[in-house]
Amino acid sequence: MPGLLAGKVCIITGAARGIGAAIALEFFSAGARVCILDIDGGTAQKTGKQLDPDGNKVMSIEADVTIEEQVRSAVEATFKRFGSVDILVNSAGIIKHLPIEEMSLEDFENVIKVNLTAIFLTCKMVLPYMKKGDGGKIVNIASVGGRTGRPGVGVNYAASKAGVIGLTQTLAREAGGAGIYVNVIAPGPILTELTNKVPKEIFARWNAGRAVNKNGLPEDIAKAALFLASDQSDWITGVTLDVNGGIFIS
Ligand SMILES: NC(=O)c1ccc[n+]([C@@H]2O[C@H](COP(=O)([O-])OP(=O)(O)OC[C@H]3O[C@@H](n4cnc5c(N)ncnc54)[C@H](O)[C@@H]3O)[C@@H](O)[C@H]2O)c1
Repeated sequence: MPGLLAGKVCIITGAARGIGAAIALEFFSAGARVCILDIDGGTAQKTGKQLDPDGNKVMSIEADVTIEEQVRSAVEATFKRFGSVDILVNSAGIIKHLPIEEMSLEDFENVIKVNLTAIFLTCKMVLPYMKKGDGGKIVNIASVGGRTGRPGVGVNYAASKAGVIGLTQTLAREAGGAGIYVNVIAPGPILTELTNKVPKEIFARWNAGRAVNKNGLPEDIAKAALFLASDQSDWITGVTLDVNGGIFIS
């Protein structure tokens, strides 16, 4: 919606492509200035250029969200360039779906590091800037896999995404007094490069029970993220918004 984020400065991790890129487009269209933060610097630059060829309102930073110093300097650079940090969306994520007996400790820990530990880092780094300003909005992207024990996502992925929900609820309590709202979106299966590699039968199993006859698209998540990042959602904090076409209805 045009104007909903006018004047706001957003950092979106994993925004070079997929759900993060759709969120960057939605937020930019709503008037925000956007920092695209991604480990894939080349694609991040391309996505940024497509969004804003002049580069007045979009910057792209190559950074690995699991490396503390890189996260710190990306947040500092965003503040230096745009003058505030009002919104953080954590969309960077990976999946490695193996049965537990075939999963190495490294497979387990890598997924936890990118999907969960990195959110600890980005939230920690933006908080002082949000407190300096008028508060803020944080939107963490979890997954239906962290909510329901979806078959085949891998215990590493499910644990990381369930962890994101716990982190969010506690941070919402810690930061609420400073006017900082922290929420989760738990998407169902969405057609992106991440799910491209998933065998068709597994993707179908993830969608089993869906009420709506439509595959999920990155834009479906971007619209929900806009709601949670804007003042339209004021007084909502610590919630998990399931955006999944009705895969589980309780
Ligand atoms: N696609 C789905 O079906 C689906 C469903 C539920 C939840 N999710 C979650 O949504 C988020 C986005 O998924 P997507 O489908 O857009 O994936 P994607 O693979 O298309 O995009 C992920 C982005 O994150 C970036 N990234 C990965 N590791 C990084 C790191 N260490 N540092 C910085 N950037 C890094 C990648 O370069 C990529 O641009 C993820 O957290 C994913 O778990 C996706």
